[in-house]
Amino acid sequence: TLQQLILDTLDKEKEIKDTRSLTLPGEAQLATSHDAQIAILGALNSLSSREMITYESNEVFSYVLTTEGQQIAKEGSHEARVWGAVPTKGVGAPLPIPALKKAVGDETAKVGQGRAFKNGWIGKEGDGLVKLVPEIKDQTQLDMQEIENTGALKAGEKTLADLRKRKLVVQKKGQWFVVHKGPSFSTSTAKPETDLTADMLASGSWKSANFKKYNFEADGIPTSGGALHPLLKVREEIRDIFLEMGFSEMPTQSFVESGFWCFDALFVPQQHPARDLQDTFYLSDPKESAAPEHHYYKRVSTVHEHGGFGSVGYRAPWNHDESRKLLLRTHTTASSARMLYKLAARCRGEDTESDADELTHGAATSTETGEEAKDDGFRPAKLFSIDRVFRNETMDATHLAEFHQVEGVVADRGLTLADLIGFMRVFFAKMGIEQVRFKPAYNPYTEPSLEIFAFHPMLQKWVEVGNSGMFRPEMLEPMGFPKDVRVHGWGLSLERPTMIRYGINNIRTLVGHKTSLEAIENSAAVMF
Ligand code: PHE
Repeated sequence: TLQQLILDTLDKEKEIKDTRSLTLPGEAQLATSHDAQIAILGALNSLSSREMITYESNEVFSYVLTTEGQQIAKEGSHEARVWGAVPTKGVGAPLPIPALKKAVGDETAKVGQGRAFKNGWIGKEGDGLVKLVPEIKDQTQLDMQEIENTGALKAGEKTLADLRKRKLVVQKKGQWFVVHKGPSFSTSTAKPETDLTADMLASGSWKSANFKKYNFEADGIPTSGGALHPLLKVREEIRDIFLEMGFSEMPTQSFVESGFWCFDALFVPQQHPARDLQDTFYLSDPKESAAPEHHYYKRVSTVHEHGGFGSVGYRAPWNHDESRKLLLRTHTTASSARMLYKLAARCRGEDTESDADELTHGAATSTETGEEAKDDGFRPAKLFSIDRVFRNETMDATHLAEFHQVEGVVADRGLTLADLIGFMRVFFAKMGIEQVRFKPAYNPYTEPSLEIFAFHPMLQKWVEVGNSGMFRPEMLEPMGFPKDVRVHGWGLSLERPTMIRYGINNIRTLVGHKTSLEAIENSAAVMF
């Protein structure tokens, strides 16, 4: 190709002083024609845009033949044709003018006669014309041929001006170029590779590939990295607080729970509004849970229906189906209940390798009276979980059908409400919430129950941040805990403190299908 020719010539000769000296591929002639110049300019522009060459252009005037000029180059000038058509003096009969016109055409006869006479080539004899010289030199034809071949005439400007006047040639502006090697000079015109591909590795073509140089000045594409969701960040922070306070994490993988563990075991009455369809999602398939352990089930149903452990119970008929219904857990207290039941296994005299053993810290504690008591199997425990719960809520800016609950329970002998309050103050202070207030509240499973309020410095008001209480004997004693064991617990949402902390005012920008990944990536929470 032309580009290759230019590169090869440069390679050989270091520079091209004049592109008109190139012989183009497939053309025997030098690159002086107009078409060749256009092609060369195209090739030069393409190569210089890749910095393989640099070039300077020069203007040049060249001459081309008109149609008449071309005819002269081929057949001779009008006067030469007239001379050729007439007989030599004394050899044949002189040629009459009408016969000459017939032989060479009106135009040639008219123009050529005068010049042939002037040149002394022909003469008149009677009514006809005869040659006066045996041979002629047709300078005009020679000039035309020279111009046709070279675009120029050595004879010079004066003759050219005369030929232009005679409308045999026209002047044309042309270009020629001086070409040098550029900074990226190479004899290969293949576009340099920008990427090393798997195909190149597989075929081995990388070995001979021409790779584009790195441009260290180029602006980079903004990088995007992974980002932890703000909820995960805050979850990690809260988990750290629990761990540094000596808590163990509870298993909370069972999103699907039974009515028994979510409500009955917590002494939530079977007629409680929280159990309504409007508040709880029930499963249609499978519908029913496996049966809980028989003796415990019996104790739970009895304390609901008839009372016991010092309670009169709800004195309402027990519904077995209600207990066996499967649902999406409405709080992680269902998981806490399962763990507390396990924690009490040894108190029930079950000599089992209990999961709860891992969650307790070994030593038996003495009873309130301090006297040396027989080991009733109880071990104190501090447990926590942070996981997802589901409620059939009307969704709005602050409510979703699912959210995360932070939950903690502390089990020990002789705990009081003051322990709970004191503990809450410490726990919330570690979360950066110093001002807390407690308000009496109601939960079916705790008595007393306290709502926790924190002063929000930005909003300049008290906002509810959690719910807590001392678990009821109706819940703990059927599990088998000794009478002096108290368990306090509390729960809060993970979303609320996250939203407050990072100034997010719509929960839907934080959780759910409307969450924007960009907002997550750019969240202040992600930076710390
Ligand atoms: N389960 C309660 C809730 O969902 C929180 C709580 C946990 C309250 C433990 C008291 C004790 O709000």
